[in-house]
Amino acid sequence: MMKNYLYLFLFLWLIPFVESDSLLMANGLDSDWWKTTTVYHIYPRSWMDTDGDGIGDLEGVIAQLDYLQDLGYETIWISPFTESPQKDFGYDVKDYCKISEQYGTMETFDRLLAEVHQRKMKLIFDLVMNHTSDEHAWFQESSSSKDNPKADWYIWKDGRGKNGLKRPNNWRAMSGNRAWTYHQGRKQFYYNGFLPFQPDLNYHQPDVKNAMFDVVRFWLEKGVDGFRLDIISAIYEDSSLKNNPLSIHMTPSDRTLSIFFQHLGHNFLQEESFGFSTELREVVDEFEQPQRILIGESHGHESVLREFCNYKGKNGLHAIFMFNAISMPFKARKYQKMTETFEKYFAEPLMPTLVFANHDRNRTISRLGGSADKAKLLAMFQFTSRGIPFTYFGEEIGIPRVIIPLKEGKDPIAQQNKWLPQFLVNRSVEILNRDECRTPMLWNTQANAGFCDSLVKPWLPVADNYQQINVETQKSDPQSQYNFFKKIISLRNHTPALQSGSLEIAQEFCSKKVFAYYRTLGKNRYLVVLNMSKKSLDQFEIQGDMIVSTHVNSTIGAFFPYEGKVFLVHR
Ligand code: GLC
Ligand code: MG
Repeated sequence: MMKNYLYLFLFLWLIPFVESDSLLMANGLDSDWWKTTTVYHIYPRSWMDTDGDGIGDLEGVIAQLDYLQDLGYETIWISPFTESPQKDFGYDVKDYCKISEQYGTMETFDRLLAEVHQRKMKLIFDLVMNHTSDEHAWFQESSSSKDNPKADWYIWKDGRGKNGLKRPNNWRAMSGNRAWTYHQGRKQFYYNGFLPFQPDLNYHQPDVKNAMFDVVRFWLEKGVDGFRLDIISAIYEDSSLKNNPLSIHMTPSDRTLSIFFQHLGHNFLQEESFGFSTELREVVDEFEQPQRILIGESHGHESVLREFCNYKGKNGLHAIFMFNAISMPFKARKYQKMTETFEKYFAEPLMPTLVFANHDRNRTISRLGGSADKAKLLAMFQFTSRGIPFTYFGEEIGIPRVIIPLKEGKDPIAQQNKWLPQFLVNRSVEILNRDECRTPMLWNTQANAGFCDSLVKPWLPVADNYQQINVETQKSDPQSQYNFFKKIISLRNHTPALQSGSLEIAQEFCSKKVFAYYRTLGKNRYLVVLNMSKKSLDQFEIQGDMIVSTHVNSTIGAFFPYEGKVFLVHR
């Protein structure tokens, strides 16, 4: 009896110490692992080439799993690697259930998944559901006649005008081009929400939906942990085919749906696509242990984006990208406002996402004018704010945008824009040639930065500052961007309050120069203060212990330019 009390006493005494560990363990096991995870996005073509063709492969992903585990990432998201003509580098799928030869075989994939799981990590990858390649067997069949069994698997319409050669309506695609392509065989137009070689599937046809849900089940049965859903905003189109209204916007933005003076309100973000997200969730929830997740890609205001996650109060996607952060000016008040908006629309049980880059957008460091200090500050925000952090490969070492003339672009978007004068392109904040953010990972100082054999030509050029910017060099420099990432991820991984605590803006420290917030879980409260200005600041009265700073030789009450600090607050 006495002994039992003793145990109880010991247990109670230990609670404050075991709290964080047991919470972490719970996170690993319970169904909400995705809320506390950190995601690293690999563009497989550019990650590591092991078979000597200058193109990265799945074997290369396996080879560098320890690198990612050591950095502290839990989830890996890999851009498409299934069979494809590679006109849009895998975002044009020819077979959803076969691995592209360039990347390996199904055996390689199975081994990769096993290796990931062995490390207690998660693997998700891109599911491009909206469209297929025009070389996909479904499209081949669908386009072969007007009355084949798959005739309505894509969106076919007669043209207007006397000879039927005028497009069915004025819709533009997200990529700026016209959204209808004439097919000589069927003497009809098919709809493409992206590029002409990516015909949209017709989700009003139930067989299409079922075929796609079977693809989902195929991969979930294999044990993958979820999917990144490519342009989920594009799944449905308005079947009335009404013309889109005019817009004052020429260039696309992250929160509106306008391009080339047209508002794409009838071919994107249809209510049916929100409903589709809840149906898809039901399929994914057939697989319970461990929970599989869905992360969607869409443009739009946060008030619209959240509809993908809980349309009519039902569970939909677990999370949705919030691209607002990508184009956010580096200003304290802007970050404050953005965080307030995220909190407003993505309060518990929803979770915001924190993204600064991906395979379509400019490199973070280049957007920041090359400043590693700013990049570290953003990383501090990303790993201490409330949300799921996503790192695009190379962000942790600061791979820059590599300027590649549009004419030389392998990216189909670059090809489409090749008439634009290069001087305009170089000046624009966003890239028009996506090759520029897809150049190979920089591993070391050897030829081709260790991405591929020195005698092989990499598919895209290696950034020419790779002698300074590479993993090996940064590992041995305690002040490097790499080592800061490692430190801040580790802090997050060991601090439940930073993973799942509530967030409140620390108004008393906020100003035009400073953005600050608290993260609180139970008794633990942390304060994050980010000096987003180029000036040193002092005389801050902070009652707490400084845990991490972006800088060395830091003191509690003063801040270097672009310095960020995390404090454990005394209460
Ligand atoms: C998404 C992808 C992009 C791709 C497009 C078409 O926006 O991120 O890379 O080209 O969809 O699938
Ligand atoms: Mg569609």
